[in-house]
Amino acid sequence: MKRILSGMQPTSQLHLGNYLGALKNWVSFQEEKDAECLYCVVDLHAITVPYDPKVLKRATLEIAAAYIASGIDPKKSTIFVQSAVPEHSQLMWLLGTMAQMGKLQRMTQFKDKAGKNAERAGLGLFAYPVLMAADILIYKATHVPVGEDQKQHLELARDIASTFNTRFGVDFFPQPEPVITGPAPRVMSLRDGTSKMSKSDPSDMSRINLTDDADTILKKIRKAKTDSEALPEKLSDLDNRPEALNLITLYAALSNESKEDSLKRFSGKTFSEFKPEFAELVIESFAPITNNMNKLMKDTESIEKILNSGAEKAQEMAAPVLAEVHRIMGLSRL
Ligand code: TRP
Repeated sequence: MKRILSGMQPTSQLHLGNYLGALKNWVSFQEEKDAECLYCVVDLHAITVPYDPKVLKRATLEIAAAYIASGIDPKKSTIFVQSAVPEHSQLMWLLGTMAQMGKLQRMTQFKDKAGKNAERAGLGLFAYPVLMAADILIYKATHVPVGEDQKQHLELARDIASTFNTRFGVDFFPQPEPVITGPAPRVMSLRDGTSKMSKSDPSDMSRINLTDDADTILKKIRKAKTDSEALPEKLSDLDNRPEALNLITLYAALSNESKEDSLKRFSGKTFSEFKPEFAELVIESFAPITNNMNKLMKDTESIEKILNSGAEKAQEMAAPVLAEVHRIMGLSRL
C-alpha cells in the first residue's frame, strides 16, 4: 500500500506552475487503486517568514478551496490543515534531536530565504525542513510528490528516518520516495524560459494565476517572451529555445497529450498563431476551477467542515505513530 503525502504553503496566489506541477498530479494519484492520499495546507511552514495573521487564515482556506476545486475529492483523499494536527510539531521536536546542524546549514532554501541576514533568521526558518520531515514521517508516507526545489528537503527527511531507525535499532520509519513526475514538473516563467514560474517573481506578467480572468490570461500570453522563428517539427529542435519549449510543454500538459503531438499541430506556424490557441486552452482549463473556487470561498463553512473531518482522520493516523515513537525513545506518557 502506497501512502502519498504532500502539502502547499498558504502564501499568496496559486499559478499555472502549482497547478501543472502539483495539483493536477495530486488529483490523478487519487485514482490509483493501492494508494492512500493525504494533502495538507502547511500553515506552520508559512509562519517562518513575516506574515499577517488575518491574511494567513484566509489564504489557508483559499488553498484548501483550490485543492477541492482542482478535483481533490474529500471522499477519496484526506484534506487538512497542518496546525490542526499537533502531532506534526510534536514529532518535529523529537526528530530535531536527530537532525544535524551541518546538514541544515546546507539547505539551499534556507540560504535563499535568510539571505544576508542569516544571523537574524528565526529558528523556525532554520528548522523548516525538520518540520517537513515530521509532516511526512508522522504518517509513515511512502511517496511524496514535490517540485525539484524540494528534493534536498526530502533527502533530509530520508536521512532523519534512517538515523532514527539506526539509533534505536528499529525498522520503524519507511524511506519516503520523492515523486517528481507529472505533465510539466518544471513550469517556467513567461518572461524567461530559464527561470521557474514563481509567486515570488516581482513581475505578475511572468505567471498565470489561478484567479486571473480571461482578458488577463490572454494579455499575459500575448506578451509572453518567444522568438520570431516558426515552430519546428521535431522536439529536439526546441533544445535551444527555452521559451518555445516551455509553451509547448504547457500546451501538451493542459491538453493531456505528448509534447511531440502538440508540436505536430503547430509545426510551421508562428507564435502569433500559436498564442491565441494556447490562451484559449488555459482559459478553458482554469474557468471551472476558478468558478468552483469562488463558489467555495462564498461558503467557507463548507470548506471548514471538510478540513475538520480531514484533520480528525489525519489525527487518527498520526497519534498512534507518535505514541510508538515515544515508546521507542523511552519517553513516558502518563
Ligand atoms: N516545503 C514544501 C514547499 O514549500 C511544502 C511542504 C511542507 C511539503 N511539508 C511538506 C511538501 C511535506 C511535501 C511534503 O513546497
